[in-house]
Amino acid sequence: MAKVVLEEENKKMVKGNEVIPLLTPYNMGKFHLSHRIVLAPLTRTRSYKFVAQPHAILYYSQRTTKGGLLIGEASGISDTAQGYPNTPGIWTKEQVEAWKPIVEAVHKKGGIFFCQLWHAGRVSNYGYQPGGQPPISSTDKALQKEGSSSKYPPPRRLAIDEISDVVNDFKMAAKNAIEAGFDGVEIHGANGYLLDQFLKDRVNDREDAYGGSLENRCRFPLEVVKAVADEIGAEKVGVRLSPFADYCGCGDSNPQALGVYMANSLSQLGILYCHVIEPRMQTMFDKDDSNVSLMPMRKAFDGTFIVAGGYDRSDGNNVLENDGADLVAYGRLFLANPDLPRRFELDAELNKADKSTFYTSDPVVGYTDYPFLENAS
Ligand SMILES: Cc1cc2nc3c(=O)[nH]c(=O)nc-3n(C[C@H](O)[C@H](O)[C@H](O)COP(=O)(O)O)c2cc1C
Repeated sequence: MAKVVLEEENKKMVKGNEVIPLLTPYNMGKFHLSHRIVLAPLTRTRSYKFVAQPHAILYYSQRTTKGGLLIGEASGISDTAQGYPNTPGIWTKEQVEAWKPIVEAVHKKGGIFFCQLWHAGRVSNYGYQPGGQPPISSTDKALQKEGSSSKYPPPRRLAIDEISDVVNDFKMAAKNAIEAGFDGVEIHGANGYLLDQFLKDRVNDREDAYGGSLENRCRFPLEVVKAVADEIGAEKVGVRLSPFADYCGCGDSNPQALGVYMANSLSQLGILYCHVIEPRMQTMFDKDDSNVSLMPMRKAFDGTFIVAGGYDRSDGNNVLENDGADLVAYGRLFLANPDLPRRFELDAELNKADKSTFYTSDPVVGYTDYPFLENAS
């Protein structure tokens, strides 16, 4: 039996005489991955009233392979965490119960499923906050986006003695994710949301122990990681970072130093993986010609290193070949190609993602209706 499995794996690794690095197995801690193509976290705004829905069973199942790693869409950790319509949460019993059949379906097909834990911070407004309060952040400066003054009102700067409450919310959400059956959690420290609002010096204007120096700015995100790791085990915890990006007005004057400091600190906490968005991602969707390397972060982190952002088959294979990463996360390509690992194996043509349906609320269109390869055998 073991021999058959091995032969099956070898077949995947080699197409003709060519080894396909993306299709080689990899051990991420205790998780035996059969390939290195990861489903990136993708908000799909189809979780009505902040509760994951039954149609997500099909969506995630479609993208599951035996031994494949999936990272779920950003899931709010508390009633102050949301900032978009129809994003799921993981803070109530109802939300936890709703995730269970989705996780079970992924497990049934042999997938490994992590829940992304998220707090939007100031990328929110009164309508999403309990009692119509302002959203919370490291700062009281509003996010400035064109024509967005009502959409993103000035947030409320968290008082120092409130920070432990938010740390606790992350911890409880992690516990809930494990209760829902997830194999682990990814703490969302990227893309301009709450943790990033503490990390970056263009937003964090605090003068207390959580602002100013690099060490101070990283303190709260690292407290979150430590609390979550203590709760569920560091071997089940990943962290996503985007030190080089300035999405949602969240930029830093020295992203390389920030990235390396965080990678080092996360390594010391012994977490499972560090997942980093490539510096070339100028916006969430557009690449520029930046050739800044993530190698210093990779070298500073002892665990599994995942990269994301603008990857296709060929540069995914290249980054693995050059030891720039252990795994590659794919967002839009995986969204549009539910059978992406199979297509990469065959070097088959890819469906194009339809941007206009990324964030619509239909439970099928733009969600579970992307076609699979025909005649794949
Ligand atoms: C529709 C959509 C939703 C996204 N939602 C999330 C999310 O929930 N959490 C997150 O960390 N990143 C999110 N991202 C960013 C992706 O995970 C990924 O970093 C980005 O799409 C770049 O990778 P790609 O070039 O492979 O698409 C989202 C991107 C898209 C297109």
